[in-house]
Amino acid sequence: MKLKALMEHAVQIGMNSDPRGKEYIEKQLKKQKDKWEKLKDDNEKEMFDTERTWNPYADSRIINGSGDEEVQTLMIGIDIETPEILLADRLREKGQKIDAIFIHHPEGRALADLEKVMPMQADLLALHGVPVNQSDAQIRPRMERIWRAIHADNLFRTERAAELMGFPAFTCHTITDNLVWRFIEETICAKQFDDLNEVVKALEEIPEYKYYAKKGNPPIIVNGSGSSRPGKIVATEFTGGTNGPEEFLESQSRAGIGTILSMHVTEKTLDEAKKHHVNMIQCSHMASDAMGINLLLDKLEAEGHIFETVDVSGFIRVKRNS
Ligand SMILES: [Fe+2]
Ligand SMILES: [Fe+2]
Repeated sequence: MKLKALMEHAVQIGMNSDPRGKEYIEKQLKKQKDKWEKLKDDNEKEMFDTERTWNPYADSRIINGSGDEEVQTLMIGIDIETPEILLADRLREKGQKIDAIFIHHPEGRALADLEKVMPMQADLLALHGVPVNQSDAQIRPRMERIWRAIHADNLFRTERAAELMGFPAFTCHTITDNLVWRFIEETICAKQFDDLNEVVKALEEIPEYKYYAKKGNPPIIVNGSGSSRPGKIVATEFTGGTNGPEEFLESQSRAGIGTILSMHVTEKTLDEAKKHHVNMIQCSHMASDAMGINLLLDKLEAEGHIFETVDVSGFIRVKRNS
């Protein structure tokens, strides 16, 4: 499969699991297309990111390569920076085939544009009864903070390392986070549990969580206790770029949410969770991210696109198809 086609398929799969629904996203893409077609000024045209006309995931894109590369063996990692690129080069030297590098946490322009995927968090909360205007107003200052913080980062080290070592590389972030969000909503949140211990037990039956739990990185209850009643369980902290603002806790509590499953919980959010009596379970971050990638690879496999993987930096391949 060509890398460009892989990206296009991945985007479609991400859209099919997106909390905003495909219709809404397509409307947004159309607006970007119209904007692009109306541009007359050459400088504005040069600055316009045409990727935005077909890919709604600003944190997921090819960061090195033309897209014409045939890719079959992927080195996959949750975080890939220069050390992992060097690892890829060493492995290749020893005879391991690596056609491209699949990175989960964004790098390069995908990182520069991370805050652009955050508005979907308002849609995510709206699904659980938080008025969209309220969470939209709450997310904006947080998006600005993320934008300013990332703006100062050394953004293009990884893509330069990949370029120098001759590896096509791409990031898939919100695409696979959407898949894990939907999976957790359907397999955990939709069920009834007597207490939080039962929720943790159910999480540990998922192979990626089990693998990480055995290694000392299990899902942990960070607010509430094992015997606490869960109430309404949601997975509102699995997709949408990065953690939402702590104000989301009060909004979710008012909307009737009892337990939030999360990949990572900030101290400020935890303080708010305590104040508003919302239970929180911090599921293993790496296991969750690995699961999202596995779900994407399974869907591609079901379409007949089979990839070999070299698993590094937190990723473990678990197949669910057969
Ligand atoms: Fe993720
Ligand atoms: Fe992550």
